[in-house]
Amino acid sequence: MSSPFAGRTIQVVRDLSVDEQVYLYDQTRLLKASLRDGDRRIVERFRIDRPEIGVYLLFLEDSTRTKESFRNAAKFHRVKLNDFAVAGSSFSKKESITDTIKMLVGYSDQSIFVLRTRLEGTCRWLEHSVGVYTGKQGLPSASFINGGDGRHEHPTQEFLDEFSFLEQLSWDRSHIHLALVGDLFHGRTVHSKVDGLQVFHEVEVDLVAPQEISMPDHYVQRMHECGYAVRTFSGIAEYLAQKRVAPIWYFTRLQLERMGDQLLDKADRLRESVTFRKSFLASIDEHTRFYHPLPRHQITPTIPSFLDDTPLNAWELQSMNGYYTRMVEIAMVAGHLGDEFEGTVRREPDYPDDFVHEVEALRRSKPDYKVGIKPVQNGIVIDHIGRDSSPREIWDQIDKIRRILGLDRISSHGVYTGGEGSHKGMISLPDLIELAEHEIKMLGASAPGCTLNIVKDGRVVRKYRMGMPPRVYNLPGITCKNEDCISHPSHHEPVTPEFLRAALDRYTCKYCERPHAFGEIW
Ligand code: NCD
Repeated sequence: MSSPFAGRTIQVVRDLSVDEQVYLYDQTRLLKASLRDGDRRIVERFRIDRPEIGVYLLFLEDSTRTKESFRNAAKFHRVKLNDFAVAGSSFSKKESITDTIKMLVGYSDQSIFVLRTRLEGTCRWLEHSVGVYTGKQGLPSASFINGGDGRHEHPTQEFLDEFSFLEQLSWDRSHIHLALVGDLFHGRTVHSKVDGLQVFHEVEVDLVAPQEISMPDHYVQRMHECGYAVRTFSGIAEYLAQKRVAPIWYFTRLQLERMGDQLLDKADRLRESVTFRKSFLASIDEHTRFYHPLPRHQITPTIPSFLDDTPLNAWELQSMNGYYTRMVEIAMVAGHLGDEFEGTVRREPDYPDDFVHEVEALRRSKPDYKVGIKPVQNGIVIDHIGRDSSPREIWDQIDKIRRILGLDRISSHGVYTGGEGSHKGMISLPDLIELAEHEIKMLGASAPGCTLNIVKDGRVVRKYRMGMPPRVYNLPGITCKNEDCISHPSHHEPVTPEFLRAALDRYTCKYCERPHAFGEIW
């Protein structure tokens, strides 16, 4: 197979490059038009027609549209469709999802799993763990398509949303102005917008939600990093009180099932501020269109039913597009489409080990490094710990370094003035000749900015400044703090926690992508 999409996993929108997303939209456009025009010749080109390819639907959370559109898309392809019955499976005997999938993957020549899970990052984990397993067994890699993971992402919803916006904009990708309205905190479909909107060259996003259910900061930050113009409003009334109103509105329902008791008590008030009212109609331009991933709440919908038969209703056509985009997604990861694709293929980013920098050691005869009152003759001194922090924070950091590196040997430490009213921490370790590579990584990840000084015969012969390692994994004691992450120890999946450097002071979990300050991962 020469398709660059064969065997790929789609855990997040970014698992397809922008060129690959555009390819998906172009192919969907062709397929949809051919189905509408009855052009059988072209339609047949899309069909996989290989009963030995298995498509597994594994929905551990409820679903109507995502599941049914994938089911119908798989039926179109005449592949082996399996609807995994979660109730009555060995999940009730506490089998891990990792073990379950390892078994299912052996039942077909090639497998595509569509999963909806409460646990965030499940597809990313399975891509890795089942990939190791299929490699050992000589089976082709399985694909894992995320049909919504907790409140993390919903990439295939995003693809159908963007496809629908492009249809409205007559395929013009130069600019989009969009309002996101509703539960932006828990709604995974709006989180996926951060990357999905990158198919447009210029993006304006208006976030319309009361503070309690507003877009999490790290997504807003990423929107800024992508160059989007972002504005925030506390509700529809405030939004309509100003002039620049978006022609595309994307509503979401309040995700009550993901709210804690405190928020549930406020649900009515929160819902009211993001529910469209008749009186707002006068402020809406006639070309405006409303979208919604659905479902709408039967009794308290944010898009009330009096809007159903108005030109604002774009959500019904949007929902149908899920069938077409998912037909193409299955064909892509099955390797049936993509031979002629010429754009940029998504690549795994590199993680160069660039976090240890040698700096010039001062040629002073007597460095002021001591153990107790004695100067360090030979050993290692960790200096400049927690520079510019308060003494309290520096003591905490010293404690952490000692604990993480297991420094239970003869040594001393302290907090000192670091010049110009600042403070710094120091740990002196006499007779320690070197740190192992994983210890250096731990030091960089727990105290970035500190220096590692090698002292010989009373002189500093080498000095290194530590940065944050780009990738932290396989170290004892690191865990993701998101309880809904597949790697969280409470779920007992055999996942090795892994963190990727996202900014100068931040790591994100490889699986759920939740940001962590560098001190938090230990
Ligand atoms: C969404 C979901 O599950 O995240 N629904 C869908 O897939 N169409 C939105 C929601 O449940 O509110």
